[in-house]
Amino acid sequence: MGAVLGLLELDARLLVLCGPTSSARLACASAACVSTLPAERRRAVQAAQGVEEPELVEHGPLPVEALTQALRTACPELLGDRTWLHLLQPLCSSPPPDAAADGVLAAVARRPALAGCAAVWAAALGRRALAVELQAMAPTEPRPAVLRSMEETGNVEQFFEDVLEGRLVSVILHLARGVTVEATGPAIHRNDVGCCRWTPLAAAADSAARRTQGLLIAHLLLLARADVNRSCPGPCGWTPLMRAASCGAPAIPTLQLLVQAKADVRKRHENGSTALEMGDQTSARALRAARDARSRAEEAAAAAATAAGARGAAKPKARPKSSAALLALQNAGRSSKGSGRGTRR
Ligand SMILES: *[C@@H]1O[C@H](CO)[C@@H](O)[C@H](O)[C@H]1NC(C)=O
Ligand SMILES: *[C@@H]1O[C@H](CO)[C@@H](O)[C@H](O)[C@H]1NC(C)=O
Repeated sequence: MGAVLGLLELDARLLVLCGPTSSARLACASAACVSTLPAERRRAVQAAQGVEEPELVEHGPLPVEALTQALRTACPELLGDRTWLHLLQPLCSSPPPDAAADGVLAAVARRPALAGCAAVWAAALGRRALAVELQAMAPTEPRPAVLRSMEETGNVEQFFEDVLEGRLVSVILHLARGVTVEATGPAIHRNDVGCCRWTPLAAAADSAARRTQGLLIAHLLLLARADVNRSCPGPCGWTPLMRAASCGAPAIPTLQLLVQAKADVRKRHENGSTALEMGDQTSARALRAARDARSRAEEAAAAAATAAGARGAAKPKARPKSSAALLALQNAGRSSKGSGRGTRR
């Protein structure tokens, strides 16, 4: 249980702030886990859960004003430091860019008590090099339980059971212990004769319609770079989008998430149906709307890129993607200098 509590120790308010578009909110999503926390910690998490989230944008980055407003309610102390705005804004984008979570994790790890948790998150998201960096920032004595738990090996069978049952924290731990986001799971039985096997994302897409944490698990797997188009091994060609669609209206948020993550809407099941033909009327309408919103966003982005290209063809390229994580790590190095810890040698 220590490991679970360790994950929840990541600043709960910060996690909530990041909203449903990011994995960072995951750790405070479990009521069962929250109830096991010490009273003071529990109150903080519960207060955080009531905090208003920034309004969701369908596509693109969250406006700075919306984020500032949300920070003012949720974590006013973060407003004093522009770095946080800089780090959180991409994470609140829809979809978040690939490295968006890295910078936030590095910044969270600046607090030595949280470095172990941040390392587990980084490992679960498949950022092994970042995880090693963050691990080195955690105190060596006492060694955080959450880091000790990482020394165990993940169990693929248990991992799939946890995904299908929507047990978020266990899923994070299995990933951190080395289960991959492309692992092959057990046979599919709902809506299939058992000839095909689950992928993690298809299992999460399916569980999202039935389990409260399923959608968050799907977010987590996408941030961990699961391939949104990958079909389940077997003859039927199930994709995560088809699994979600076949659950009907309860799967609408999952359909939106997968479409934002660039899922192929036209892929066909072995029997010729696409995801659009697999749900009910409401889910099909939502799926079409998400697909059209994505096309509009892509067209707008392409037009903006062309305009920018025309303006500054000779300008050097923008900063590399990982700059947020690097910046946060540099800051971490700077702030730990004065504290006299020597763990980074
Ligand atoms: C999924 O497939 C579609 C169609 O082939 C492609 O446009 C899209 O980029 C793919 N998505 C990802 C995330 O690779
Ligand atoms: C194909 O299979 C899916 C899932 O079982 C089902 O929803 C769909 O109606 C089927 N399509 C046809 C044309 O039989």
